Amino acid sequence: MKINSKTKVCCIIGNPVEHSLSPIIHNAGYKALGLNFVFVAFHVENVKGAIEGLRALNVLGIVVTVPHKLEVLKYVDEIDKAAQKIGAANTIVNHNGKLVASNTDWTGSLEALRKVSEVENKKVAVLGAGGASRAILYGLKRYGATVFVFNRTLDTAQKLMEEFSLDGAYGLEEKEKIQSCDIVINTTSVGMEPQINDSVIPQEFLNSHQVVYDIVYTPKVTQLLKFAKAVGAKVVYGDKMLLYGALPQFELFTGKKAPYDTMAMALENAERSK
Ligand code: ATR
Repeated sequence: MKINSKTKVCCIIGNPVEHSLSPIIHNAGYKALGLNFVFVAFHVENVKGAIEGLRALNVLGIVVTVPHKLEVLKYVDEIDKAAQKIGAANTIVNHNGKLVASNTDWTGSLEALRKVSEVENKKVAVLGAGGASRAILYGLKRYGATVFVFNRTLDTAQKLMEEFSLDGAYGLEEKEKIQSCDIVINTTSVGMEPQINDSVIPQEFLNSHQVVYDIVYTPKVTQLLKFAKAVGAKVVYGDKMLLYGALPQFELFTGKKAPYDTMAMALENAERSK
């Protein structure tokens, strides 16, 4: 598709953003459907200025990544219910000048998990209590899971328990409780490059009946997922959250059904060539 004066522009804003795979995934989808769209990445420090600029330029869709997911809420015209409850947005759609913020982190992470396991009535241990955790906790409760949050700082976990009506909050000293859970999800940054040998829990607390999901995707097979595989647990890779979160963004921006296979393949190729 040639870029011309009718090309519609979508983008991702973040800091850093240079590592982002969103442009590759979205552009592959546009190409597959022959859409006159382009998706670019902007390294943004001044969030207010960026949103004002994107609004003035009538940019159609904005993906928001770390660390701007909270701050963007201040500059949009409308925030959907899930993004309000989570307290963060990763998607902004420009509806004829009205900027509407939503959150596909929760749908993306839950879609990825539900491909491998049912969620309703399952006992789920969520490790970490930051922004990513909030999206996942929201999603897990929406799907009827029994949810326990474990965090290094107990106080933060307890606050989340109240806010999201969770079923338990623990410090990491009590991580042996994870053994009785069906699903274990790491939402902390532990294990991310360059600390690739770290895991927030040891192998001894995992077993073959569990599904273990790590939202860290650099590297794809984290130390936690190596432990999970070693004990025969099912694993869910963090890049799937990115992919399943990108599909509804694509649909919101273009109004077309996202070509899953093409976008999944683009992600896989990009990871392989890194
Ligand atoms: P994000 O928004 O990407 O989820 P965040 O808000 O910085 O990131 O949250 C990071 C989470 O990882 C927190 O739950 C943090 O625990 P604390 O609340 O105790 O800070 C957790 N975390 C980060 N580094 C950790 C480590 N080395 N060990 C255990 N937990 C860690």
